[in-house]
Amino acid sequence: MIASRLIAHRGCAKLAPENTLAAMKLTKTLGVDWVEIDANLMGDGSVVIFHDDTLDRLTNRSGDLKNLVYSDVAEVNIGSHFSETFKDERILTLEAMLDVLAKLDLGLNLEIKRYEHFSAADIVNPTISAIEQCWKDYDRLIISSFDHEILKLIYQAKPDWQLGQLWEALPDDWQSAVDAINAVSVHLDNTLITLPVARAVKQAGLDLYVYTVNDLNDADRLFDMGVDGIFTDDPTIFR
Ligand code: G3P
Ligand code: MG
Repeated sequence: MIASRLIAHRGCAKLAPENTLAAMKLTKTLGVDWVEIDANLMGDGSVVIFHDDTLDRLTNRSGDLKNLVYSDVAEVNIGSHFSETFKDERILTLEAMLDVLAKLDLGLNLEIKRYEHFSAADIVNPTISAIEQCWKDYDRLIISSFDHEILKLIYQAKPDWQLGQLWEALPDDWQSAVDAINAVSVHLDNTLITLPVARAVKQAGLDLYVYTVNDLNDADRLFDMGVDGIFTDDPTIFR
């Protein structure tokens, strides 16, 4: 489980460029104990911490991750789109980010992205290797994905690791899906969640986390429903 009611979404994405070292350090400074970050796959099989399948939105370059190798992007500026203060921020590999988070003593919800140009196994195998190499505290790691295939592969390889199933809204077959991977948590979109849904998930003994909440009233409503934690871009709203 995530031992925090606040989880810094992509680091604190409203306060620093998302998924960067600066965002992780800021999360720590703000006293938030857990982060959510996005793992993605490049053309050479490198797993990187990056939300999109192209460089266009977040960097000073354009191009699809599938057509690039890590050395192409190692020096790409991932901070200036947010503010020149962050011009030295770079795209990190999963290994580098895991080392950073371990040193900062932050809990991690690693969301694994799945874009059409790669298979579930393509990203799962290097992700498992990186985690085994760089991460020690498995109580402070939850792996989530919208892609059920990814979670099934991890469950087969690492049945003891904590898995969270991401959905926008809870589907009808949710119970069999969470059973198939022995999920510890369900992660849902805050605009689609209802009280019966929250109750059903909690009654099944699962933790319930909700994205992305940047409003105090929304947070109150969700915690009243029994939600265990919220992903937020700005934890300072909740002080
Ligand atoms: O893991 C919760 C949330 O991050 C899922 O959506 O697009 O922000 O990665 P997204
Ligand atoms: Mg995410």
